[in-house]
Amino acid sequence: MDILVTGGTGYIGSHTCVELLQAGHKVIIVDNLSNSRADVVDKLRTITGLTPVFYKADVENRAALREIFAAHRPEAVIHFAGLKAVGESCRLPLKYYRCNLDATLSLLEVMEEFGCKRLVFSSSATVYGPDNPVPYTESMPARVATNPYGWTKIMIEQILRDHTAADPAFSAVLLRYFNPIGAHTSGLLGDDPNGIPNNLMPYISRVAAGKLPHLTVFGDDYPTPDGTGLRDYLHVVDLAKGHLKALEYAAQHTGAEAFNLGTGRGVSVLELVHTFEKVNGVPVPYVIGPRRDGDLACCWANAEKAARLLGWTAEMTLEDMCRDSWNFVKNA
Ligand code: NAD
Ligand code: UFG
Repeated sequence: MDILVTGGTGYIGSHTCVELLQAGHKVIIVDNLSNSRADVVDKLRTITGLTPVFYKADVENRAALREIFAAHRPEAVIHFAGLKAVGESCRLPLKYYRCNLDATLSLLEVMEEFGCKRLVFSSSATVYGPDNPVPYTESMPARVATNPYGWTKIMIEQILRDHTAADPAFSAVLLRYFNPIGAHTSGLLGDDPNGIPNNLMPYISRVAAGKLPHLTVFGDDYPTPDGTGLRDYLHVVDLAKGHLKALEYAAQHTGAEAFNLGTGRGVSVLELVHTFEKVNGVPVPYVIGPRRDGDLACCWANAEKAARLLGWTAEMTLEDMCRDSWNFVKNA
């Protein structure tokens, strides 16, 4: 199948392109490189022996999208492109609403012009907001976010529900990711944020590499077994494979359907730190700091719906995630 991948040179997108290429799909990437690098395309070729088509373009730009659709007539789209930093979205909300909503609307309009009816969208566990109890199930209300980034995901989910209601031939799979970490086993692809990382695993890796002096654990007074926050970490390669299952689902169903992609297990900050140290034999010095504004104590998935309807379950262990993250940072 010919598949358009927006944001395909980014962290999750690049790992998904590996799986798509290895499964025999033709991959057309559109990315403006605002948070990734063009050499990812070479790395995809090195890993798979296959070459995706790459366009440096903004997904908000309908004229550019039209040319790409006219040239390739993709049968399905996986839509990763967007801005994702929670803190930045609070400082620059208009930038987030403009980018994330405009990109999606432009994409849907051009898909409609070209009769492309299948979309897999990168949503987030953040749509469950602060009020639902863990583990989150897809039937829970997902209508309140705590930051503009989260609101863009809720709004886009609603746009996709409205669009599928108006076009009964359209299929939208909304994948609600939990906390992807890890990297491709080749060490060529991984999470490589610019500047000081916001997220836990890139921060741990940089501390382990001696590039940052210590990790600050954001609070040890949560109502959890060791007092630190619990999250559902999943390996990015498992997550990438979930997109292939979602594409199969989209080929057989219409309407908008949401799925959690997580392991179903909550892991604490300190459990992740200690597993990283043990697996990799490197120290990760840390200090306990205050809670971070907006953080929840606990966030993990009920992963049963994806297992039942997509035939997808996360297979890789926390040890795999820690080993592969470190392997990527060591190679960088
Ligand atoms: P990423 O920043 O690594 O990848 C996003 C890619 O999109 C980047 O390569 C960037 O250059 C590109 N991009 C951004 N805006 C664009 C635009 N307007 N036009 C074209 N390209 C554009 O992020 P990621 O971690 O791979 O996340 C992918 C998607 O998954 C995002 O939508 C994100 O919100 C969502 N998500 C990520 C996480 C996570 O923890 N990484 C969790 C939940 C949901
Ligand atoms: N943490 C620390 N120190 C750090 C960074 C994080 O203690 O330096 C802790 C956080 O307090 C939290 C856990 O590590 O308990 C995970 O934090 P991340 O920032 O890695 O991830 P979040 O769960 O806060 O957020 C992530 C994505 C969001 C997404 C959300 C739900 O960054 O985009 O998962 O999917 F919305």
